[in-house]
Amino acid sequence: MKKVLLNGANGKMGQALARLMKEHPELGLSPAVLRTRGQEIRDPFDLVIDFSTPEGAQESFALAKLQKKPFLTGTTNLPDLFLFQMQETTKIPVFYAPNVSLSVYFFTELVRQAESMYRGYEVSLHEIHHVHKKDAPSGTAKRLAEVLDLPHEKVTYERTGEVVGTHIASFKGLMDTITLSHEATNRDLFAQSALEIAAWLVKMPGGFYTMKNFANFKLKERKK
Ligand SMILES: NC(=O)c1ccc[n+]([C@@H]2O[C@H](COP(=O)([O-])OP(=O)(O)OC[C@H]3O[C@@H](n4cnc5c(N)ncnc54)[C@H](OP(=O)(O)O)[C@@H]3O)[C@@H](O)[C@H]2O)c1
Repeated sequence: MKKVLLNGANGKMGQALARLMKEHPELGLSPAVLRTRGQEIRDPFDLVIDFSTPEGAQESFALAKLQKKPFLTGTTNLPDLFLFQMQETTKIPVFYAPNVSLSVYFFTELVRQAESMYRGYEVSLHEIHHVHKKDAPSGTAKRLAEVLDLPHEKVTYERTGEVVGTHIASFKGLMDTITLSHEATNRDLFAQSALEIAAWLVKMPGGFYTMKNFANFKLKERKK
């Protein structure tokens, strides 16, 4: 079992990650060191998983570098300088993705393909989330809008009930309409994927990795 230093352990993601590590021993990860804000770490660990705040991400990155251990973060809104520092790392494997769901990554690639195929069609993007979500449009919708070359202001959205997250891309032509939709039905979508990435990352040499690297690994593995 690899000992995980879980940074942001009391947060929504942190709690889901700790629970899923226990539910899935086959991943070979255990939530050994639970770190919250301002906590010093003396216990040994084999890798760092961080879902906290930009400050927390930088603090836990420093710990990973000091101990020469792999570092995975999904914390959003990280400063550019820190992103650059992570990208420059060669001594430890470092992974960052503002959306760690492999399924959402594949959906984004489907939308990218459709965009290149249905040229001349009128493109629209709609997202639906629960009423507690503060930002709009969602980060995922912004990413999809970039893929579709659609200004963020053109993304429509609604906030209703406890919807986990739905994104709908439509291509409207004169004689037909194509609709691609991704509906998250379980909030564990991100935490589960993050753990699969972590189990892969610990086997990788030093360097910077993104969803593209992990997705390529998964696709190759499936062809075997
Ligand atoms: N990449 C993805 O796919 C993905 C998916 C979901 C979430 N996220 C991102 O992950 C982050 C956490 O999300 P969440 O929903 O779990 O948020 P959350 O429920 O607010 O949890 C954040 C946790 O981090 C703790 N924290 C704050 N400063 C810290 C520090 N310096 N060191 C260690 N821990 C610290 C907080 O403790 P206090 O309560 O004491 O402040 C809190 O327990 C956010 O940036 C979110 O956008 C990314």
